[in-house]
Amino acid sequence: MILLGVNIDHCATLRQARYRGAAATAGGAVEPDPVAFALAAERAGADGITVHLREDHRHIQERDVWRLRECIATRLNLEMACTPAMVAFALKLKPEFVCIVPEGREEVTTEGGLDVVGNRDRVRTCVEAMNAAGIKTSLFIDPDEPQIELSAKLGAPFVELHTGAYAQACFTPRRGSEFQRLRLGCVRAHDLGLVVNAGHGINYVNIAEVRTLPHLHELNIGHSIVSRALFTGVEEAAREMKARMNH
Ligand code: PXP
Repeated sequence: MILLGVNIDHCATLRQARYRGAAATAGGAVEPDPVAFALAAERAGADGITVHLREDHRHIQERDVWRLRECIATRLNLEMACTPAMVAFALKLKPEFVCIVPEGREEVTTEGGLDVVGNRDRVRTCVEAMNAAGIKTSLFIDPDEPQIELSAKLGAPFVELHTGAYAQACFTPRRGSEFQRLRLGCVRAHDLGLVVNAGHGINYVNIAEVRTLPHLHELNIGHSIVSRALFTGVEEAAREMKARMNH
């Protein structure tokens, strides 16, 4: 069975659209609450909850992460930039997983994979700190051989292959080649002993093809589930995605 990690960042995006300056992040009139979203997703079969605490705090706030740490019953996956401040935060928080992502202040969302090759020493330091603390690290990378090979060498147990380029190419002639690139990436990562996750841009349509990728352990899905939840409620949205993943 492919596991489902529900990324709840965009629930917080909606809250911040109205309550950015508010003292409280939950309670009273402040909604929607990302923790309530996470608990509903868990009731519907989510295997883990993922949040990206960005440096600019544009959606998830630190307090959300601490509340999640206390409340959720599954596993917490903290997406974070590879910086000393975030490493220190993760070591205090002790999530089950961290996923190291690139972070650009101007980007609307995470736009490309982490350049492990170009940031080798920083990434190694981060992976070693997490390994020493018993926190499992995943590196969010494009499905390219040099990135995959170095990820394995740096001792991260997981990679999350970036499905964004494939998702964007879905209605273009590049769809086949982007899918093949992902397929080869999954095989290569698995051959090197890495556990293979994937995420970004996965929706209720392209999941039919994404789920056929070999060796998939977990998919991290956010935007499509949060969007669908507006119409069906969180539980139905998460349940439907999990059913489609494991058709
Ligand atoms: N995985 C990672 C590493 C991400 O940065 C994101 C986006 O925040 C996702 C998965 C989820 O992407 P989406 O919201 O497009 O499903």
